[in-house]
Amino acid sequence: MRLDKYLSERTQYSRSQIKRLVFSGKITVNGNVVKKADTSVDDADEIKVSGKSVRTSRTLTLIMNKPAGVVSATEDKVEKTVIDLLPEEYKGQNLSPVGRLDKDTTGLLLLTNDGDLLHRLTSPRKHVPKYYVASLARPFTAEMKAKLAEGVVLKDGTVCQGAQAEAFDRSRLSILICIHEGKYHQVKRMLAAVGNHVEKLRRVGMGGLYLSQDLPEGETAVLLDKDLLKLLNSEDKFSSHLQRLMKCSS
Ligand code: URA
Repeated sequence: MRLDKYLSERTQYSRSQIKRLVFSGKITVNGNVVKKADTSVDDADEIKVSGKSVRTSRTLTLIMNKPAGVVSATEDKVEKTVIDLLPEEYKGQNLSPVGRLDKDTTGLLLLTNDGDLLHRLTSPRKHVPKYYVASLARPFTAEMKAKLAEGVVLKDGTVCQGAQAEAFDRSRLSILICIHEGKYHQVKRMLAAVGNHVEKLRRVGMGGLYLSQDLPEGETAVLLDKDLLKLLNSEDKFSSHLQRLMKCSS
C-alpha cells in the first residue's frame, strides 16, 4: 500500500500532511528517510513519524471512563463528543463508540475501529451483559426486583428481557442492574416501568471487563488482547460486582 494511504488510515495525519512530513524528512521506513509519499509499505515495515513508531495493526480498541456531559457519537454539531476527549494520537483513527451511553451516563465506554468487534458487541443476538450502577429516587423494593427479573414492558410497548437487579446500600437507593440488550434509555425506562426513577447512571462492566478505579473520568486506555478476552467472556459477574459495591458502600 502507498505510504500516504497507509499512514492516513493509522494516524491523525491527512494525506496532504503526510506529504509535507515526507518532504521535510520526518518519516522513516526501516530506518531510512523516505523521499516519496507513494513509497510502497506494508505491516512488516517499521515506520516512524518524527521518531515515533506507527502501530501496524489496523484495529484499535480503547476503554474510556466517560464523564457526564458528552455524547457517545463520532460528531455532533452542538455537543461535545467522546471523540473530542481523545488524545490527539487517537483522533482520525476511525474510532466509533460501541453502543451508546446517554449524555448524562458515566462510566465504561468502548471505542473501536474494529468492525467485527463492533458487530459482535452490538448485534441484537449477541449482546454481552452490561452492568450498571443506578442511583434511584425511591427505595428499591422486592416487587420492583421481581418485575425486572420477569421482564418489563416499557411505556411504548417494548418488551425487555428479564434483568437481574439488587440494592447494595442500606437506604436501597443504589442498585446494580445487569441487562443483555441495548435499547434506547433502557435502564432508565425499565426503572420507570416499575415505578421508580433513575437519578444517576454509571456503567461499571461489560462481559467480564470491569472499569478500573484507576482510570480517571474523561481518560482512555488501550484495550489489550487479554482485556478483549475478558470482554467477550459472558460468564455471570453479577455477584462479583455486587460484593465489590457492597464493600465500597459499607
Ligand atoms: N440505559 C440507559 O437508560 N441509559 C444509558 O446510558 C445506558 C443504558
